[in-house]
Amino acid sequence: PEIIAVVPAAGIGSRMLSECPKQYLTIGTQTILEHSIASLLAHPAVTRVIVALSDDDVQFQQLAIARDRRITTVTGGRQRADSVLAGLQAAGDAEWVLVHDAARPCLHADDLARLLAIAATSRIGGILAAPVRDTMKRAEAGKEAIAHTVEREALWHALTPQFFPLDLLRTCLLRALHDGAIITDEASALEHCGYHPELVAGRSDNIKVTRPEDLALAAFYLTQLHK
Ligand code: CTP
Ligand code: MG
Repeated sequence: PEIIAVVPAAGIGSRMLSECPKQYLTIGTQTILEHSIASLLAHPAVTRVIVALSDDDVQFQQLAIARDRRITTVTGGRQRADSVLAGLQAAGDAEWVLVHDAARPCLHADDLARLLAIAATSRIGGILAAPVRDTMKRAEAGKEAIAHTVEREALWHALTPQFFPLDLLRTCLLRALHDGAIITDEASALEHCGYHPELVAGRSDNIKVTRPEDLALAAFYLTQLHK
């Protein structure tokens, strides 16, 4: 069945400290946004990509992919969740939707395939996630002193893509936003509504380009990806 992807790309990338929004920085011959979109369209089931752009975006129309008929744009919002919701509202009657950060250019095809496979067995959906490797400490409230070590076996880094039934995600995002819940990814909107999305173990090189030092790392991972 047809799968639609929503790519939130309306952020300003303040932590990146770059001239332009980080999704428009170039790695090799393409922007980070183009790498991220290409990683989704590489899967044959992904037939449409809806990109949420900031209302003052001037760069998307300059890209070659702006003329790809599988790709459409909507205007994003103040928070990431608003941008995702704007994308979902344009997704029509697709059954399942993928949401993938514009700032994650290093997604591997096998990770995407394993995530998409959960549609066969799950009615809730799930996310790519990477097991935590470091020893994790909880600080005492308001202090820089250790309260205790947190059991690492139960901790995962939430990645994207995240993959949910479209109606369920739309309903949960609307409710979570209405309730003022803190939602930094799609799964947290479902959690807010009492659901327990699946964790699909994914590669830890699927990084979100966030700070300046991440750019060289993403560039290196991309050279590995296309070998
Ligand atoms: N995003 C969005 N709309 C927003 C905020 C973020 O579509 N109002 C997108 C970003 O473009 C990015 C993804 O959500 O692809 C993940 O967000 P993040 O890494 O935090 O990007 P920015 O918000 O742009 O960066 P920063 O927080 O450093 O300003
Ligand atoms: Mg942000």
